Amino acid sequence: WPATARREDGELVVGGVGVRELADAHRTPLFVMDEEDFRARARDYATAFAGSDVYYAGKALLTKAVARWVIEEGLKLDVCSGGELAVALAAGVPAERIGMHGNNKSERELRRAAEAGVGRIIIDSLDEIERLEAVAADLDRTCAVLIRVTTGVEAHTHEFVATAHDDQKFGFALSTGAAAEAVRRVLAAPHLDLVGLHSHIGSQIFDTSGFEVAARRVTRFLADVHTDLGVTLAELDLGGGLGIAYVSDDAPLDPKTIADSLTSIVRRECEEAGLPVPRLAVEPGRAIAGPPGITVYEVGTVKDVEGIRTYVSVDGGMSDNIRTALYGAQYTGRLVSRESDAGPMLSRLVGKHCESGDIIVHDLHLPADLRPGDLVAVAATGAYCLSMASNYNHLPRPAMVAVRDGAARVIVRRETEEDLLRLDVG
Ligand code: LLP
Repeated sequence: WPATARREDGELVVGGVGVRELADAHRTPLFVMDEEDFRARARDYATAFAGSDVYYAGKALLTKAVARWVIEEGLKLDVCSGGELAVALAAGVPAERIGMHGNNKSERELRRAAEAGVGRIIIDSLDEIERLEAVAADLDRTCAVLIRVTTGVEAHTHEFVATAHDDQKFGFALSTGAAAEAVRRVLAAPHLDLVGLHSHIGSQIFDTSGFEVAARRVTRFLADVHTDLGVTLAELDLGGGLGIAYVSDDAPLDPKTIADSLTSIVRRECEEAGLPVPRLAVEPGRAIAGPPGITVYEVGTVKDVEGIRTYVSVDGGMSDNIRTALYGAQYTGRLVSRESDAGPMLSRLVGKHCESGDIIVHDLHLPADLRPGDLVAVAATGAYCLSMASNYNHLPRPAMVAVRDGAARVIVRRETEEDLLRLDVG
């Protein structure tokens, strides 16, 4: 939970604003983002990684306001599609502070990025080397690029979000020589300036050892490039993936601990190889955007399925939080609109979509006197919820409000049925 308080009547207060007031003014489901908490987490990363670059990974949550907070706190921004790039540019993010990812960037996306002058583009395939070289030549400019390598590290996380093992779509494997080949090709491309290497092992990781092994392997490769090709690369980006606490069993990694460990590994490896120490970068998304966000829902029905459990249905579901259905993600939630002395009732928090997999929290203790009209909030939904939201069953996507110092501001307005119909031209 972000820094919250409870009024005497039990109402939850976030950023100085009561959730009942927010729900009345902006309706539900509602994403509520504690702006100060978001900024503080961004600052923590900037401080822990002082002397390195921190690219906030916009895929976790990107709105114009969020992009501005990130830049104001001294971070840079990682985007991974033309759409994310458009939001960043519309927010006024200086292009040189943007890094662009993607395993299948289109020619259009590359052109837009090169024209805008994004700081660096992370190369993910041989096809992309040719495509970007052609675009840069056509624009008569040079693009700074990193090459994404895969280190063979098996990150201990859900299969769908692990990215450094061999059998997946991202990057160039170190083990097969693919990475070395990519380096040679980029060096031979006259309009590409190879500034460094990139590695991202996966997401929602709690164990530092995966990051450490990856850092060691990629630094050794940096040394090989230096020895074999006489090229000194100035940047090393170790990606994102730091886990957060969704439930009390999760022990999140501290930015300072990971910063100290990675910096010293890279320094040691470089000293041993007689190599100048590159500038480090990291790309946290979830660790900054996740914890400060909550989703507020209104309870619609409370159904006791005799002898099994109680199903509590709320007015959103898998369209505003697909993570439970997709990854078996765990969340916690609670009654936030009032106090209750009633005993705990084992509940399943479910949405209003037309399938039984539409579950937000599998097992949750809610007060036994829960009734329609109560507000329930789910914690740590700031990352990968709005950004992965859909219109399944033609539910309009919720609004997001930023709360700070007792004031609430809509940063993404709620979709309307007119919005949905506007796209349906047939
Ligand atoms: N950098 C790269 C290259 C990435 O692919 C990602 C995440 C990040 C940074 C940021 O990772 P983070 O610090 O947020 O873990 N939808 C999934 C997560 C997918 C992550 C994809 N890449 C989920 O909801 O868990």
